[in-house]
Amino acid sequence: MQFIDLNKQYLRYKERIDGAISASLSSSSFILGKEVNTLESRLAEYVGCKYCLTVANGTDALHIAEIAMGIDSNCNVILPSYTWVSTAETIEMLGAEIRFADIDKETFNIDPEHVKKLLDANTKLIIGVSIFGQTCELEELQKIADQAQINFLEDGAQSFGAMIGNIKSCSYADISTTSFFPSKPLGCYGDGGAIFTNNVEIYNKCKLLARHGQDDNKVFQIAGFNSRLDAIQAAVLNVKLDYIDEEIQLRQDVASFYKDKFSAHTDEIIVPHIKNNMISAYAQYTIQFLDSGLPEFVKKYLHESGIPSVTYYTPPVHMHPAYSKHSSTLNVTEKLSSRTLSLPFHPFMTQEEVEFISSSVIKALELFTE
Ligand SMILES: Cc1ncc(COP(=O)(O)O)c(C=O)c1O
Repeated sequence: MQFIDLNKQYLRYKERIDGAISASLSSSSFILGKEVNTLESRLAEYVGCKYCLTVANGTDALHIAEIAMGIDSNCNVILPSYTWVSTAETIEMLGAEIRFADIDKETFNIDPEHVKKLLDANTKLIIGVSIFGQTCELEELQKIADQAQINFLEDGAQSFGAMIGNIKSCSYADISTTSFFPSKPLGCYGDGGAIFTNNVEIYNKCKLLARHGQDDNKVFQIAGFNSRLDAIQAAVLNVKLDYIDEEIQLRQDVASFYKDKFSAHTDEIIVPHIKNNMISAYAQYTIQFLDSGLPEFVKKYLHESGIPSVTYYTPPVHMHPAYSKHSSTLNVTEKLSSRTLSLPFHPFMTQEEVEFISSSVIKALELFTE
């Protein structure tokens, strides 16, 4: 069994994906060009945002967006520690002070109340990560940033296709980024990423940065990056984008199969808490155990039964040597990081697979308490 079965998805769209790759090869247009332009317009339209710039990966998307927002060693940036390292790494690389904020104990997303406490006159940016596919509190975080007259960035690497009310992930913050890493909700067949904004000046700055700092007249205005999405990856994404809404719906179905199966075990397991007005892209299906000894025990039992599972962000970013100088007391983050387990999850899982995985988890629980 695969943790995320990308082959099953490929086989479903094989004819169209093979056709799109083959057409790209025949055109011999490998860098930028029609597929990339089409994808950028379609992505912007899909999320409901004016501008989209594709780049080489989600880490570059963050890095470039942060430079465009003027992040440097003279400021501090508030972000969660419960995230993939890229969110913190790019800020560290820019020399800014990192202020790690704690997370909500139900959603794993950054806690706006803690963000307010960390703000000071030197804060230039708040980053909310839409973790495991559920958007962070976009409206509340943007409001906090607006009041402080600073910027808000949504790291939507895990949440493309997710919604909060009528708002799509990657459309609302001053600037948003995503990743097209293969296992993400919208993944390509290599590395890829994108930046979204409604602000033309920020868009132009990001574009300049991502293209070696070179303007349309071939003049190098600033030092920049070589950060482009390959045309072949854009061709793959142009096919996959047609199916994202259907896949998001299928993800809701798989999540509700899991929820049903665990419904008799709410004393031991907390299933993902998706807020009323939210639709998660379920990049991961992450359960919490009330007993901190359970994740490792269950993981081992699942492994022996041929079921892969992963514990994410243990330890969280602020506990790694590269980031420990940014001292932080993050009670919820530290507690949750030793309590979770992510189970196999993708849109094309069958009820039988969910049944097998969940009954194996429940069996492990029984063995643990014996
Ligand atoms: C929250 C988050 N931010 C950023 C990234 C970086 O994306 P990429 O791997 O495309 O650089 C990831 C990828 O795992 C992520 O999960």
